[in-house]
Amino acid sequence: QRERTFVMVKPDAFQRGLVGEIIGRFEDRGLKLVGAKVTRLSQKQAEDHYGEHEDKPFFDDLVEFITSGPVVPMVWEGEDATRQVRQMIGATDPAEAAPGTIRGDYAVDLGRNVVHAADHEDEGANEREIALFFDDDELVEYDFHE
Ligand code: CMP
Repeated sequence: QRERTFVMVKPDAFQRGLVGEIIGRFEDRGLKLVGAKVTRLSQKQAEDHYGEHEDKPFFDDLVEFITSGPVVPMVWEGEDATRQVRQMIGATDPAEAAPGTIRGDYAVDLGRNVVHAADHEDEGANEREIALFFDDDELVEYDFHE
């Protein structure tokens, strides 16, 4: 069904000049951009966003990295958007990510993997992650052919 999904360009993409390239991938695919901003996460926002990984050994590194520079939280809309985006992004581990996926083409290591997307197997993920970054009035409703 038509749905909205949360995606975030990470600080390593800014450092490497890949921000436009990454946003363009979703645009080329025909997904609809309904929300986006450039921001830098506070420690608290980062800990909330990655709360599910709190007990993992890499949690502190993850929070340090995601707060180390700017990010672009975005909301993309489309048919089956969550699954589509996950497919386009590729596996978390760049060594496993297929060529042609965003991580398969650009990611360097597990931590610096240029983009985050809500997990399609976690039902509440989109709603929760979108609410962390956007107020309702920051998401725009529009038709491509107005
Ligand atoms: P992301 O999709 O943003 O969700 C959680 C992130 O944790 C993941 O991408 C990786 O960047 C990061 N991550 C997962 N496993 C490891 C690991 N073993 N070491 C460092 N970072 C990791």
